Amino acid sequence: MIKFKLARSHLIALISICSFGISAHGPVTPQAINTSTLPTLGEEWADMNPYRTEEGDIRTEILRVGASAYNQNCARCHGLGGISGGIAPDLRKLPADFDGDEWYIYRVQNGAVRNGAVYMPKMTEHLNQEALWSIRTWLESVSEK
Ligand code: HEC
Repeated sequence: MIKFKLARSHLIALISICSFGISAHGPVTPQAINTSTLPTLGEEWADMNPYRTEEGDIRTEILRVGASAYNQNCARCHGLGGISGGIAPDLRKLPADFDGDEWYIYRVQNGAVRNGAVYMPKMTEHLNQEALWSIRTWLESVSEK
């Protein structure tokens, strides 16, 4: 069990920051995400989603941070609520298994750059591992429905 403390004052501060300056499709520059309430994972990348098996309050918090991080950093291309409008692939379809994780890691680390054109930025330059796995966990939760 990883120790988990939810600092209410941090949450309130975060919510008030988040509601500032966000358009319907999310801001254009990648947004820093506060991951201090999530179990820490360190610098070295896990090869499978380390949050997939978390339960209870920890899972609830992972999903809360993941949804917010997705909407701020991925939704403008991959679609609000994870539902792709066709600009970029629908990330709910990525299987919640080792192969899906491998492909997820590859894309968030490398982005999609062809002939110098950036179709997707290298997300690991802007978001830490905790934020990116919380997004993945949230995407898995919306694809279950
Ligand atoms: C500027 C637009 C843009 C943003 C922002 C963006 N993506 Fe992407 N993403 C793309 C495009 C376009 C592709 C398809 C790339 C290709 O096929 O070469 C893609 C592909 C992917 C894939 C591979 C999906 C598949 O089925 O092959 C993953 C995983 C992914 N993105 C994750 C993310 C995550 C997570 C975020 C937010 C942290 C994000 N992307 C933000 C444009 C974007």
